[in-house]
Amino acid sequence: MKTTARKKTVKRAAGAAAKPRPRNAFYAQSGGVTAVINASAAGVIEAARKFPKHIGKVYAGRHGIIGALTEDLIDTSAEDPATIRALRHTPAGAFGSARFKLKGLEQNRAEYERLIEVFKAHDIGYFFYNGGNDSMDTALKVSQIGEALGYPVTCVGVPKTVDNDLPLTDCCPGFGSVAKYIAVSTREAALDVASMARTSTKVFVLEVMGRHAGWIAAAGGLAGRKADDAPQVILFPEIAFDKPAFLAKVKQSVERNGYCVIVVSEGTRYPDGRFLAEAGTKDAFGHTQLGGVGPVIAGMVKEELGYKYHWAVADYLQRAARHIASQVDVDQAYAVGKAAVEFAVKGHNAVMPAIIRQPGKAYRWKIEAVPLAEVANVEKTVPRHFITADGFGITAACRRYLEPLIAGEAYPPYVDGLPDYVRIKGKAVKRKLKTTYKV
Ligand code: F6P
Repeated sequence: MKTTARKKTVKRAAGAAAKPRPRNAFYAQSGGVTAVINASAAGVIEAARKFPKHIGKVYAGRHGIIGALTEDLIDTSAEDPATIRALRHTPAGAFGSARFKLKGLEQNRAEYERLIEVFKAHDIGYFFYNGGNDSMDTALKVSQIGEALGYPVTCVGVPKTVDNDLPLTDCCPGFGSVAKYIAVSTREAALDVASMARTSTKVFVLEVMGRHAGWIAAAGGLAGRKADDAPQVILFPEIAFDKPAFLAKVKQSVERNGYCVIVVSEGTRYPDGRFLAEAGTKDAFGHTQLGGVGPVIAGMVKEELGYKYHWAVADYLQRAARHIASQVDVDQAYAVGKAAVEFAVKGHNAVMPAIIRQPGKAYRWKIEAVPLAEVANVEKTVPRHFITADGFGITAACRRYLEPLIAGEAYPPYVDGLPDYVRIKGKAVKRKLKTTYKV
């Protein structure tokens, strides 16, 4: 794996990079967590320990950026190397994540001033922000605002999102493992419903995440290899829901195969843009909270076609499923964390390590630095040519893209029949400021 930087990315003055004095780093987890976000944390922390001339300590935000605003920092140097190593096989956010969006400088200057005040107090010169689209935007803003406030901070975004919707990168760490979990679960549940269909359940519905992008739903398609294999129906956010066509497809599958397996994205919408299932609440980023499309779809099938059904909402199970993580995903998650540090110490600012797929039959990838400005707030959805003409399946091109991302098993160690996950000590860094901040 090679790490290179695109010419366009911002590099600090050569003089400054040549004579570094160690500055501390701040690492924060942001947004929905994944099975491998801690592997990125391990990548950042272990790499930082290799650059003592550049980086002093790595402080992690307790609950992400909120930890910075409230000066609640975790001293990762107090963690055993074995604990940091074990983060590689431990799911969810070991330091705590946050759905908390910093507004623009004009709307809330105080928030940025506070952040910089905390960074200054703790001699933080590097900011590694591990998140999705919104977090890349925040990292970019912090880099700009640090300059504007006379305290430049090297900001590097570390990509993470199960939704797989960041641009410029081949895929997003976190996605490969969810994709594997959904493909495996779809295949297994399909065997179950096929066994029962003659006298009982004929339709199984699996609801998966993905607010605006159907990458996770598409991964369900990996469960089948031949025409008529389950899932017979995939519902994508990219394709407006066509109820008559959907019901006809379900009926056809039950008549032909005896059963029908449906993978539905939580982001599936009616042609007028309304989600099939909105929970009625919004998160801090202003996103509509979703959930419940599975039972909506199952109810529709029962009401219109009369088939007995079961439904399941994969929900947090899918993004926490470290026990069935993809080896490629774990490797990439670690690599982007490590590369973020390497780029930062080389003087790159306002960049994100992106995974670049190499040409050729075998799946090979390298890491390149791409400008945060080109990543922030851009969503990469499933292209139309990855979806079959009828809108209910994945094409061979989509399969070719997805398959390598779920390759390999990275089982965690097991003790007493259960995965042996690690917990950090979470030693707090001594506060230096007299002021407090309420979020
Ligand atoms: O981070 C993306 C995501 O996993 C979405 O697919 C999902 O809608 C959302 O997070 C749920 O997040 P939360 O835990 O904040 O409700």
